[in-house]
Order: sequence, then structure tokens, then C-alpha cells
Amino acid sequence: MTTIPVPLLTNPYDIHIESGGLRQLGDYLAAVSKVGRVLVVSNPTIFKHYGTGVVASLKSMGFEVAHCLVPAGERYKTPATVAKIHNAALEHRLERASVIVALGGGVVGDMAGFAAATWLRGIKVVQVPTTLLAMVDAAIGGKTGVNHPQGKNLIGAFHQPSLVLIDPETLATLPSREFRSAIAEVIKYAVIWDLDLFERLEAERTLSRPKGELLQLLLERSCLAKAAVVAADEREGGLRAILNYGHTVGHAIESATHYHRYRHGEGVGLGIVAAGRIAVGLGLWSAELAKRQEALLIKAGLPVAWANDIATDQLIALMGFDKKVEAGQVRFVLPEAIGKVRISADVPPALVRQVLDACGGQSKD
Ligand SMILES: NC(=O)c1ccc[n+]([C@@H]2O[C@H](COP(=O)([O-])OP(=O)(O)OC[C@H]3O[C@@H](n4cnc5c(N)ncnc54)[C@H](O)[C@@H]3O)[C@@H](O)[C@H]2O)c1
Ligand SMILES: [Zn+2]
Repeated sequence: MTTIPVPLLTNPYDIHIESGGLRQLGDYLAAVSKVGRVLVVSNPTIFKHYGTGVVASLKSMGFEVAHCLVPAGERYKTPATVAKIHNAALEHRLERASVIVALGGGVVGDMAGFAAATWLRGIKVVQVPTTLLAMVDAAIGGKTGVNHPQGKNLIGAFHQPSLVLIDPETLATLPSREFRSAIAEVIKYAVIWDLDLFERLEAERTLSRPKGELLQLLLERSCLAKAAVVAADEREGGLRAILNYGHTVGHAIESATHYHRYRHGEGVGLGIVAAGRIAVGLGLWSAELAKRQEALLIKAGLPVAWANDIATDQLIALMGFDKKVEAGQVRFVLPEAIGKVRISADVPPALVRQVLDACGGQSKD
């Protein structure tokens, strides 16, 4: 078992990484909350696999447990689904001291977190992530929310969890594509924060579905990186922006393909290829380092180029509408070394265009 503290000034909390830890959830929760009512929020697939164990563990410690299942999928990450969680909270008579447990991927975690942030102006939430993406990213840091028809995550609140419990055994049932795409976020942490992690990833023969010690290492190092960045900048006033490495171009690619063609991590992988090459174009990074970054993505089975039906013009336009745009300028997170990035608002548009053209040069078939 490994514990990683998230040392926030108010409401610090721990991330526990433990194989089989799901069966200890009751004990972990009893350490941070009074024994009372708990609402477990999940989706039918995840609850079928892990619901019984979680509920039994909570009940064994005396918690009064109810559950609320929401439909799977990003398109249900809406205010209407949060209203259903609120209805369940009412029915189960959740009080100020009650707890919502989010058992699932980022979609469940974001909505359960937002429901907890808003129920009675804020009750505790515990994140129990079951996707690799949620384990290394979504469950940590307190961003919660839902989508608006005009854009992703436009409605939300900061609401830090009281506890994050990662049980790597739950990844056994995760579809391979979900697994793979989250590796792009792990590679992101290596490039922005952790040279040693980068070198360990390079030493592996394959990164397609890490298990055992390697999986434990990826989880620990990613959580450490996210915890450090969030602790330094809880509400995205400065350093936290480095977590958006690869996301400027990545979001544009996801949006240009209507969120159908690529999983989020695949978009991020493409985005870090572009950001790496932009950094090379500006003389910040060497072509050799950019190649090493791309080699890791390839080893994980991730795409490093996109098809030429995604027009560079469209990507440029979409980047202009990215909500991380400041004062009309597109801000890029760019690597300067492995483990170190800077934020730059003055990348010449001609360079961006040249890199996007080169990355998107593949014929569609
Ligand atoms: N709050 C944040 O800081 C933050 C950060 C990154 C992403 N996000 C959000 O996270 C969401 C994406 O999360 P995601 O990638 O986890 O996707 P997801 O929650 O949609 O889960 C992916 C799929 O895997 C299934 N699944 C989950 N765990 C499983 C398991 N153990 N076994 C079998 N199937 C399982 C789910 O039912 C779903 O169909 C997006 O909405 C994104 O905006 C939030
Ligand atoms: Zn991301």
C-alpha cells in the first residue's frame, strides 16, 4: 500500500494506492468521516463488477448505504444526470455529514463530485476511480462538473475529495483502448515533471497494458506529479496550467472530430507530438527529445499523426475558441527539457500551421 498526501492548506487529503483496497473502503472512509449515510454513485457496468464489494465493505463498518446508477458515457455528463443524483440524495436523506462515493471513471467522478459540491452547499466526496485516466488525473485535484451543449465542462465547481482510493485490480476489466489512451497522460506527466519516470518508461519493451510493478510505478509517479502541481496551485492561477501540456491541440482535434474518433488521451497524445515539435521549431527542445517522446507514444500503441481530413485551418480556428485562451492569444505548454515545461503565449502562427500540416499529413485510408 502506498499513500500520497495532497498537502492543501485547507482540507488536505490522501491518495491511497492498494491492490484489493476496494474491500477496505469502509475502513478508509471511517478514518475521515463519521459513520453515517453514504450514497455510492456509479454506472451499471462498473457497479456490476465492483458494487457489491464496495457496499459490503461500507456496511461492515456501520455505514448506511444506498446507490445511484447513472448511464455510462460522456453524453450523459449533464445537469439532468446530476439532478438524478440529487434526487437520490434526497430520497436517502443525505445530511451535511453524509458522504457521496464516486465509483467509476472520470464521467462518474466529475458528476458525483459536482453533486456533492452542490448538495446542501457541499458534502464530502470520496473518489474511487476505476479507469486509469481517473486514477492518474480526474479523481485528484477537485475539479468537478458537467457539460453544457455549447462546450465541455462549462458548468462546475472546485470540490476536493476527502480521500482518493485507487485499487489497481479494478483495471483488469477496463477495455484496452481506455487503458492505452490514459498512458498518454502518464507520458505527459513524465515530460512536464518527471525525467526518471520518462527513462523508466523508455526502458520498457511495451507500454500497451502495464501490470504489476510497472503499473504501480505509473500510478505512484502520476499521482505524485498531479498532487504536487495541485498543491502548489489549487485553483489554476499559475502552475496548474502545465497539466494542459498537449491539450491545446488535443482539444481541437477532439472537437474537430466531434469527440467520436479519438478518446481524450489519444487527442492528448497527438497534442503532445505537436507541442514537442513546436518547441523544436522554437529552439527550446531538440529533435532527438521530440523523437524519444514520440517513441513512447508508439510503444503504448497510440497514434502520433492524424489523417489529412482534419484541416489545419479548422484546428487553428478551434484553438482560438479554447477556453484556456488568454487575452486573445493561444497559450502553449512547451517542453524545455524532459521534466520541465514553460508556458508560451507568443508562438508564431506560421510555425503552428507548419507543425499541424506535418502532423496531419496522413491520407485517411
Ligand atoms: N476532473 C478532472 O480534473 C478531470 C481530468 C481529466 C478528465 N476528466 C473528465 O473525465 C472524463 C473521462 O473519464 P474516463 O476516461 O475515465 O472515461 P469514462 O468515465 O467515460 O469511462 C470510460 C468507460 O470505461 C467504463 N469503465 C470504467 N471503469 C471500468 C472498469 N474498471 N472496468 C470496465 N469498464 C470500466 C465506463 O463505464 C465507460 O464506459 C471526461 O468527462 C473528462 O472531462 C476530468
Ligand atoms: Zn487530459
